[in-house]
Amino acid sequence: MTEPFIVCSNLVKIYKVGDLEVVALQGLDLQIERSELVGIVGKSGSGKSTLLQILGGLDRPSAGRVSVGGQDLLALNQRGLVDYTRHSTGFVWQQTGRNLLPYLSALKNIELPMLVSGAGAKFRRARARELIELVGLGHRAGHRLTALSGGEQQRLALAIALANDAPLILADEPTGELDARTAAYIFDLFGRLAADFGKTVVIVSHDPGIKQHVGRVIGIRDGRTSTETVRHQVPAGDAAETTHAEYMVLDAAGRLQLPADVVEELGLRGRVTVERVAHGVIIRTPDEDGGSSDRRAS
Ligand SMILES: Nc1ncnc2c1ncn2[C@@H]1O[C@H](COP(=O)(O)OP(=O)(O)O)[C@@H](O)[C@H]1O
Ligand SMILES: [Mg+2]
Repeated sequence: MTEPFIVCSNLVKIYKVGDLEVVALQGLDLQIERSELVGIVGKSGSGKSTLLQILGGLDRPSAGRVSVGGQDLLALNQRGLVDYTRHSTGFVWQQTGRNLLPYLSALKNIELPMLVSGAGAKFRRARARELIELVGLGHRAGHRLTALSGGEQQRLALAIALANDAPLILADEPTGELDARTAAYIFDLFGRLAADFGKTVVIVSHDPGIKQHVGRVIGIRDGRTSTETVRHQVPAGDAAETTHAEYMVLDAAGRLQLPADVVEELGLRGRVTVERVAHGVIIRTPDEDGGSSDRRAS
């Protein structure tokens, strides 16, 4: 069996700020298949952006393993990593300003990454044309950014991310500043990148509604993978209906993050007992005398 396109094992990222250490990722495990469209959700500060920057080669983990397309990112030297970022990844950021150059036309913005990577003028122009049509902005090709709406700017950002034909597209809150309808349009575009062009697409979002648009949503809590929501198509009469199943994720070391509401509701804290039953385990708060109470967590 071949390895998944993205593999993160026990990924740790510690930021040092003066004397302080901030643990942004604490042993994160993640696997994403080629051409998958995946959402990453989690509260602010849970480590989503840190993960994305590591996947994009913009930052290095403090420990653990990360491989993309069979390349071990930790084995690359600085130059190799810059090369990886430039040729193997395309980024879409939340702030449109980070994706685009305001004094260039829409079309020239798409040509720019190809210019940087040394493509010829004729090729650049043709490909930029193709991409601007793909995101439905052909009629805006000559416009400057100030003439484009927020949604149009993000569509343009998407075209730019595709310019170098990188296999991996990374997006950090790409719809954070857009209304729901425009956001849905952008999500659908990302979906086409995976379905029609075979791109592997990872979208960070704080919008739980993202699960309507991707095959799988990975929930991150405190720098670890905690849940996965998977979309299923189930037959419903003549048609198919979409349902979502939510799972908790057991990491390679056997650790599990129980949902915060369950922990709170059952008053689970510190020591718990784990009792084996026929097809699983029961996690409980021990009684004062050391036995188990009847409060069941699972
Ligand atoms: N460059 C940095 N220097 C120091 N701490 C950082 C840096 N980037 C992120 N952090 C911290 O790491 C944690 C995770 O941040 P981040 O990955 O940005 O989370 P998210 O994108 O989920 O909001 C937070 O506590 C944040 O303050
Ligand atoms: Mg973030």
